[in-house]
Amino acid sequence: MITGKPFLTVEQIQNKVKELAAKISEDYKGKELISVGILRGAFMFFSDIVKLIQVPMDIDFLIASSYAKVESTGEVIIHADLRLDITNKHVLLIEDIADTGITLKYIKEILLERKPASLRICTLLDKKSRRKADVSLDYIGFEIPNLYVVGYGLDYENKFRNLPYIAIFKKSI
Ligand code: IMP
Ligand code: MG
Repeated sequence: MITGKPFLTVEQIQNKVKELAAKISEDYKGKELISVGILRGAFMFFSDIVKLIQVPMDIDFLIASSYAKVESTGEVIIHADLRLDITNKHVLLIEDIADTGITLKYIKEILLERKPASLRICTLLDKKSRRKADVSLDYIGFEIPNLYVVGYGLDYENKFRNLPYIAIFKKSI
């Protein structure tokens, strides 16, 4: 079940998206970008933020998973790889949430082997206290406590992704 009131409202999320997009637009001024959405979780955040980034860009997606229900398995599976060649390009990875950091660290490592000009990570949510893998995050929307959240792309067993806001999920007993 999900708890009654939003943990992060539509307005809070949209304000943060604007703030992040402004920072990214400033940092990449005069450059071209490849924005990479990590599916499925980042689909909503990705589509909102790319609309506000004022830099010419290509977009691409990577489908990855690492999570069995609410406990991280520590294994990352790439279900679908990028279609674009990122060699010598500025790449911005856009993710919904960094938890243990295992997924982002793995993805970052495989993409760095392709020698991009630069590679940065933008995540809407960061559960910093849960970090196991050492990975640096360049743009962070909200640092959140160790809670399981759903909505705005985030799921529990693939449900709730379509909620426009973020809510706390609790297993009903
Ligand atoms: P990590 O590899 O442990 O950092 O896990 C990252 C992935 O776990 C995210 O991309 C999400 O798919 C999933 N995840 C972690 N925490 C949550 C949560 O609170 N709600 C929904 N998905 C989560
Ligand atoms: Mg994800």
